Amino acid sequence: MAFRDNREFFEALLRTGDGIRVAREVDWDLEMGAIVRRVCEMGGPAPLFESIRDYPGWRALGAPLATFRRLAVALGLPAHASVREISEVYIEKTRAPGPEPKLVSTGPCKENVVVGDEVDLFMLPAPMVHEGDGGRYLSTWHMVVSKDPDTAEVNWGMYRQMVIDEHTMVGPLLPVSDTGRVFHNKYKPKNKPMPFATVIGADPTSSIAAAAGVPWQEPVFASALSGEPVELVKCETVDLEVPATAEVVLEGEILPGKELPEGPFGEYPGYRTSLREPRTVYRVNAITYRNNPILPGANMGVPVDEGQLLRAFTLGLEARRILASQGLPVSEVFMPPCSAHHLMIVSVKSAVTNIAVQVAHALFGSKLAPWFYYVVVVDADVDIYNLEEVIHAICTGCHPGRGIRIYEDDIGSFATPFLSLEERRQGRGAKAVFDCTFPPDWDPKTELPIKVSFETNYPKEVKERVIANWKDYGFPQ
Ligand SMILES: Cc1cc2nc3c(=O)[nH]c(=O)nc-3n(C[C@H](O)[C@H](O)[C@H](O)COP(=O)(O)O)c2cc1C
Repeated sequence: MAFRDNREFFEALLRTGDGIRVAREVDWDLEMGAIVRRVCEMGGPAPLFESIRDYPGWRALGAPLATFRRLAVALGLPAHASVREISEVYIEKTRAPGPEPKLVSTGPCKENVVVGDEVDLFMLPAPMVHEGDGGRYLSTWHMVVSKDPDTAEVNWGMYRQMVIDEHTMVGPLLPVSDTGRVFHNKYKPKNKPMPFATVIGADPTSSIAAAAGVPWQEPVFASALSGEPVELVKCETVDLEVPATAEVVLEGEILPGKELPEGPFGEYPGYRTSLREPRTVYRVNAITYRNNPILPGANMGVPVDEGQLLRAFTLGLEARRILASQGLPVSEVFMPPCSAHHLMIVSVKSAVTNIAVQVAHALFGSKLAPWFYYVVVVDADVDIYNLEEVIHAICTGCHPGRGIRIYEDDIGSFATPFLSLEERRQGRGAKAVFDCTFPPDWDPKTELPIKVSFETNYPKEVKERVIANWKDYGFPQ
């Protein structure tokens, strides 16, 4: 099922009605952004812009993975697969690392090579994504490739990049990210530039791996997801490898000892939350790209776009893996994308008193912690993918006094709207757990409330009869 590249994936989206071609010319300055934003808010198909003002020969793809239907297609499932089905397939495919990447001598991403003084970032149709952004953002659906100089571990991470001039980009490379940790700890103190390659328009499973927080190096995670080894080629000017079928590759160095103003930007929680501030500088020394290239891009804003959808989806499933690895009795975990990946819903089947607190502590102490604030723990009979059931569980199972625990002065993200500017700058936050489980020591005969529903309160024979006769009673099926 693996898609060799972004183009094969788009063809599949056309077949399921989840992609459309836009032949009419669009403007890179806000018009493309406005269309993609509206697509996200309407749950519409991913548009392939075939004609962009000022950029003959270039194309752009908006909102490539902004719906669960498109995620299902990317993972080789029918577009109508349920979120639960997609989740189980994702967990199953990534139980163990996939095959090691295959190094190939060349690939489509080398069809055009521009190096040195010829490099000009304005040759790419970077969009002005939202009104009020601090500049044109080239990298919103991409991956930054880097290597740890001590361990040679490869990292693919999605860290946004804004164009400054022909050779320079800037973006928030947070110290909580894998590449940020290596840059801030191992390069910056020695005043050494760090080699990087920004890959724009990789195949869908490589992009998913870059956006997720994954337990192994992203290339083998991507191979596990697709079931085939990802094919890599060597870069022109840095000792790094990139997916051979990528649309565009920018090679260069992350500069120590220099920061430039970046932002503001419309961010994933649906607000413009961070100020124009000094951030990490990327110097670009080479650009390679395919013929008739396609520049994919996300448009962050109110839910749902691929930022919230994929981060919520993958963080929730990594949380499930972490909890299972601790031997905690967790059934399922789901982060609703509409929560801007701030809310983790966990279902448990446990006889342990205060299991909700144990679950929450395991998550608050994990690598995922900067990205979410609320943990809601429900009993396993609640369908956590059904938000009406979850609200019902909160409002009927969570004691407003004993059931809510608040943790002040914890960790948080720079883009969180409810944090003060100072908290956002420092990466500080707070956390809360909502325990919606009924205490295991409540007497089932006298104290434990009995749920009343069609499913739970009628004999099997009566339910089957009612369902079988439903149409005969006069109801529409
Ligand atoms: C569209 C998009 C943009 C993102 N931009 C940034 C960013 O600018 N800086 C950042 O630290 N994380 C950003 N993230 C989150 C990281 O991609 C995410 O933490 C990812 O797991 C990084 O991988 P790592 O754990 O290997 O660092 C973004 C995620 C998405 C989906």
